[in-house]
Amino acid sequence: MKVLLVGSGGREHAIGWKLASSPRVRELVSLPGNPGLAGLGPVIEGIDPTDAGAVAAMAAAQGFDLVVVGPEAPLAAGVTDAISRYGIPVFGPTRAAAKLESSKSHAKDVMLRARVPTGWAVTVTDLDEARRHVESSDGPFVVKADGLAAGKGVLVTDSRADAVAWAERWLPSGPVVIEEYLEGPEVSVFAVCTDAGARPLEPARDHKRLGDGDTGPNTGGMGAYSPVSDLPEGLVDDVMRRVIEPTLALMAEDGTPFRGFLYAGLILTADGPKVLEFNVRLGDPETQTVLPRLANDLVDVLEGAEPEWSDVATVTVVLAARGYPESPETGAEIRGLDAVGDDALVFHAGTRREGGKVVVAGGRVLAVVGSGASIAGARERAYAAADRISWPGKVFRTDIGLRAD
Ligand code: GLY
Repeated sequence: MKVLLVGSGGREHAIGWKLASSPRVRELVSLPGNPGLAGLGPVIEGIDPTDAGAVAAMAAAQGFDLVVVGPEAPLAAGVTDAISRYGIPVFGPTRAAAKLESSKSHAKDVMLRARVPTGWAVTVTDLDEARRHVESSDGPFVVKADGLAAGKGVLVTDSRADAVAWAERWLPSGPVVIEEYLEGPEVSVFAVCTDAGARPLEPARDHKRLGDGDTGPNTGGMGAYSPVSDLPEGLVDDVMRRVIEPTLALMAEDGTPFRGFLYAGLILTADGPKVLEFNVRLGDPETQTVLPRLANDLVDVLEGAEPEWSDVATVTVVLAARGYPESPETGAEIRGLDAVGDDALVFHAGTRREGGKVVVAGGRVLAVVGSGASIAGARERAYAAADRISWPGKVFRTDIGLRAD
């Protein structure tokens, strides 16, 4: 098979790494890829991954047998729809199905109609309305941009003034959703949705705050671990039955059937699990954490095979650039990548090749994954490898997976 992988982050490097290990994959090509993916096969430059028509025409011209789309932006731009018109199998939802992530208010509407457990939410379109809702409710306040915001559109705050200011910041780009603050540990559950049905992947727990002890601003995710041992008995089956399956059934009924990775971000409240958000892709860095535990062929799984799991535990530590998430410092040379050897996996995200060097090119730079018989062993390997990699301004959390022991 000749496979095209669309995307350039750490999640895509992990997907590409797993696809490239399949005996069924003859060639893996990435668009636009990154220096890590470039080690697995050709990368295509000069085509914007969100230009659906251009991506589809290229995929048809180059004779791909399968296209896998990693991030939400190309999915929301209709890349799946455009490629499907050429009759090429593509893994990822259509533009209409991807609205589950590209509009938070639409997602809440789907959850409500599918009777999926979630918190209350109101959608506002002007500042007075936002102010009225904030003033008439008790904090903490959760205020979200309705559309895609690359992980930067959510504020959780105790301050009414900050909640209103957040609404004011995002209202020029579309509606804003004000929703119930839910309390409890978070966990991400992923389902692979194919014509053969929906199958869960192993859950992972992300660490979203920038600093140790869950302090500092929200980020895309600073680390993750899997398995997650403190989950209520039967949680994954329960989520499949009460969240994933009703959502898929409703979307099929609405004429927007969902095929692809469906990610339910959950909060385990005192009243049971509730959905915080849906994403129409895998999580980052959860993918880097979960795929090394997948024992069978990812291509088979994307075609509907039951995922099989190894017993190893994994811990992923994200190495970020100083200033992330607001204004990461880029350009520094990354040293020590060759010193990691086979002790850990290193997935590239915000990196760029400049001559013979690899330099920092984004906020989340690398994801270092350690594995072991226990979370403690995996964590030790991940941090030992992370210590060998350096650049001026490298930042990371030192407590990934610590509470899991
Ligand atoms: N790690 C959270 C996300 O991928 O959205």
